[in-house]
Amino acid sequence: MTVSIAKQGRVAVVTIDNPPVNASSQAVRAGLLEAVAATEVAPDIDAVVLACAGRTFVAGADVREFDLPPVEPHLPDVIAAIEAASKPWVAAIHGTALGGGLELAMGCHVRIADPKARMGLPEVTLGLVPGAGGTVRLPRLVEAELALTMIAGGKPISAKAALEAGLIDAIATGNLLGEAVALANTLDAPRRTLENAVVGATNPDAFDKTASGLRRKARGQVSIGAAIDAVERGLRLPAQKALAEERATFLALKSSDQARALRHIFFAERATLADPSFKQTPRPVTRIGVIGGGTMGAGIASACLMRGFHVTLIERDDTSLAAGTNRVCGTLDSSAKRGLLPDLDAVIARFETATDYAALADADLVIEAVFEDLEVKKQVFAQLDAVTRPDAILATNTSYLDVNAIAGVLSDPSRAIGLHFFSPAHIMKLLEIVLPDAVAEDVIATAAKLSKSLGKIGVLSGVCDGFIGNRIMSAYRAEADRLLIDGATPEQVDAAMRDYGFPMGVFEMQDLAGLDIAWAMRKRRLAEGKISGPYIRIADRLCEMGRFGQKTGAGWYDHSDKGAQPSELVMSIIAEERQVMGKADPSFPTEHVMPRILGAMTREAEAVLAEGIARSANDIDVVMVNGYGFPRWKGGPMLASRAAAD
Ligand code: COA
Repeated sequence: MTVSIAKQGRVAVVTIDNPPVNASSQAVRAGLLEAVAATEVAPDIDAVVLACAGRTFVAGADVREFDLPPVEPHLPDVIAAIEAASKPWVAAIHGTALGGGLELAMGCHVRIADPKARMGLPEVTLGLVPGAGGTVRLPRLVEAELALTMIAGGKPISAKAALEAGLIDAIATGNLLGEAVALANTLDAPRRTLENAVVGATNPDAFDKTASGLRRKARGQVSIGAAIDAVERGLRLPAQKALAEERATFLALKSSDQARALRHIFFAERATLADPSFKQTPRPVTRIGVIGGGTMGAGIASACLMRGFHVTLIERDDTSLAAGTNRVCGTLDSSAKRGLLPDLDAVIARFETATDYAALADADLVIEAVFEDLEVKKQVFAQLDAVTRPDAILATNTSYLDVNAIAGVLSDPSRAIGLHFFSPAHIMKLLEIVLPDAVAEDVIATAAKLSKSLGKIGVLSGVCDGFIGNRIMSAYRAEADRLLIDGATPEQVDAAMRDYGFPMGVFEMQDLAGLDIAWAMRKRRLAEGKISGPYIRIADRLCEMGRFGQKTGAGWYDHSDKGAQPSELVMSIIAEERQVMGKADPSFPTEHVMPRILGAMTREAEAVLAEGIARSANDIDVVMVNGYGFPRWKGGPMLASRAAAD
């Protein structure tokens, strides 16, 4: 039974059991409605506890149902029936009460939660607004600005914060269900959320500031603006009118392209490592070595420490080691200040440093993050081969070098793998797991498990120059250079990309990351004869002048306190190179910019797929959305190109 009823004295315990996350599917909704009817007429029942089996309270609507026509009973009607019940309903919340789950809990008359529970309305992240009363009931329980950040920001809050805010009535100290039943026994009458007045804004200026900040952050994502509007209506309109408008917005958004795209990414992210061929038993990993304490190495060390691993950081001398250690401690400190690390001392106690590779003798896994140079990385691997246990996994964090060549220096190359983190490594969710030819299957399984333990989205990539992401990025970067030759300006290209929804354009991104890394890569690829077609020298000429981007004060743009300004010098270099290539027309229609950039992206993505470097089009979308700023609400380049073709 998806919904069952048991009796504890004069309290009915209604339990939802719909694995994995108790989504409020049609069977759950129908079961709840029957439970309301049954408990209302039962003469031996005075109150009801609503609880869930398994790992969590209802974690939302069943997202898979959103692509199908809606089937009765609808969630708003189920919640209305619970709220209207004559006997008090107590929600007993554990795990995550999200979306429709929290709406259900707010329809109950009293809420008690496990101390570790989290509650939120994340619909906005799926391109929606709450559709079962969330925007009307939440502002009747908590202060307006919190309702706004939860609904339009989509961020869940802890049980402690929920109690302080008035969203829940109690936190269980021991057995959640037992305490919920005890609480139900004390209640005389239902206390209906919709009958409350709205709490209102404690500080109207702060509310307005938060709303405009969220609207700015939305770029092109429609649901964020719609969620802000819905909260404002929830605060202003009579409850029944606000409920009707909320439902209409929800239904309109549900079938929108953006919501479809966000659902696509939601499921694609959860499917990246689902391939059953990699379900071997992983090797145990508790002790991780990190070679190199630069930005990447320190970020990786921090990410591992924050997720409970023991980390030994290695640098070549005491000065570099001190700098690397400072970077790690700085990251840990600021995470602790933001409340992300409850026990900083325990984390630091798992952190060791050394200048001698011998300190890695008992490491289960070593990740090298040294200078991006094949010979240097091979030397590091040769040293690791000598000092590590023969079953220890050796990973390289290279972002484009040949992982087969690096693995080849080991006496047993089956223990080598690529782990391509993105900077800042303790924040960015993407992890490309790069598979050299000889890699053992249990090594892949270990990397997959590690990625989950680190809270990352792991995507499997074959070995090629740049793996999935950097290869596609190089292709559209080359197209951006061709756009300059054809008459576009860097500002025009960047503005078009921002309008499309990227956080920044391709030239701004190069100025931020530094032009020198890609320059080194181009020089290597030219030497290896890997660059074909007419070669555009604009970026090389900027690098020859030391214009490496923001860090040198100049790149594609001039950088100063006033921000980035277009550069006359760069424009004259572009004009010269246009002439060299026989193009003179210094103008380009802006509407042609994005089709060209997206076309280059998808052509390369198709090649990456055809060569078997990526396992699926979905994996490519996940990589570009999580590592390369592709707008999530467009679903990634593969989905966007399919949508454009339809
Ligand atoms: N509808 C349908 N399926 C869902 C779902 C939902 N709302 N939420 C999760 N699932 C599925 C996942 O696809 C996954 O399926 P799989 O095992 O076949 O891959 C499974 O449940 C477990 O989810 P996962 O995210 O891997 O587990 P987790 O423990 O890391 O996280 C949650 C659990 C609930 C926090 C997370 O799944 C989540 O945030 N879900 C979405 C909640 C939401 O947005 N609700 C509002 C909907 S409008």
